[in-house]
Amino acid sequence: SASDKGTYPYYMLKEIDEQPNVMRKLSAEYLDQAGHPTLDQDLIDSIKGSDRIYIVGAGTSYHAGLVGKMQLEKLTGIPAEVHVASEFAYEEPLLSEKPFFIFLSQSGETADSRQVLVNVNKQKLPSLTITNVANSTLSRESTFTLLLQAGPEISVASTKAYTAQIALEAILAKAVGEAKGKQAALDFDLKNQLALVAQGMQSIVDEKNEINQIAQEYFVKANQAFYIGRGIDYTVSIEAALKLKEISYVHAEGFASGELKHGTIALIEQGTPVIGIITQAKTAGLTRSNLEETAARGAKTLSIVKKSLARPDDTFIIPDVDELLTPLLSVIPAQLLAYYTSLNKGLNVDLPRNLAKSVTVE
Ligand code: G6P
Repeated sequence: SASDKGTYPYYMLKEIDEQPNVMRKLSAEYLDQAGHPTLDQDLIDSIKGSDRIYIVGAGTSYHAGLVGKMQLEKLTGIPAEVHVASEFAYEEPLLSEKPFFIFLSQSGETADSRQVLVNVNKQKLPSLTITNVANSTLSRESTFTLLLQAGPEISVASTKAYTAQIALEAILAKAVGEAKGKQAALDFDLKNQLALVAQGMQSIVDEKNEINQIAQEYFVKANQAFYIGRGIDYTVSIEAALKLKEISYVHAEGFASGELKHGTIALIEQGTPVIGIITQAKTAGLTRSNLEETAARGAKTLSIVKKSLARPDDTFIIPDVDELLTPLLSVIPAQLLAYYTSLNKGLNVDLPRNLAKSVTVE
């Protein structure tokens, strides 16, 4: 069955490996033959009529929202902001005149997110829940709902739900952008791009042994690690760090690479792993300089780099895809590094200490 781990030692590895198929499934489900989104017209009209999009989520879903903001703004021209649910719930920012809310939640049951939705419903404001669980509380209580189609996610550390959320946000952004006649949305060849993403994911998950070796060499004994990047790569760096923290208990942080020098670089010691995520042409050189600054202070630097920006000594080279979709590939080596660090430390990868798959208390 879909929730059987078969020959896999842990669900997490199975779920990492399922990601190429989830991409294909989303494409088949939500894009027509010509590559146009097939989403509910009322949903599209409602977002189109809004003057600001508020994206709300917790944990990994919040991180997927950070990518969604960039996709929505670039393809629809509607300003978007992203909020941690537990903060928004009791410190509601000043809302625009016509807000539209997007709730991201793998489980659809997170109490922090639900509390925001309760407030949104009291104000009779429109909302969409993007979730992996049909009929979940958040999907029932919001105006619209879209399913991630990722299949059950069992491992506590979220992997395929994150990439499914990002792909579905891209589909949504293209749909609204096309409805608004935005050229960037019309030109965005998402169907072809998602096929490239699926292929690219497959090529990365096929390199497990290499990633396992790097985990053993640099991460198993590390007491801290940093992921750095700029823009969309920064959003992936905090998700990458969260994966490592959650299951391997290595203290990890994701940082905006330009901000390191303003304090955090003081933490770099001999051998501290620092991984640069580099997928955007306009900031590649800057992140490389920031990585070199950490190397000069003793860091063991590694990199996750898009092929067209890569140099021979880069650690993980990921295939080229559209700049709004690079998180779908750059996160995969980080998921696998976290997995193998946890595995080689002899930890229970799927059931890390102190954590729950779905948190139904505030
Ligand atoms: C828990 C899980 C995380 C997840 C977060 C939000 O803390 O351990 O992996 O990202 O909840 O869950 P949701 O179901 O709302 O996406």
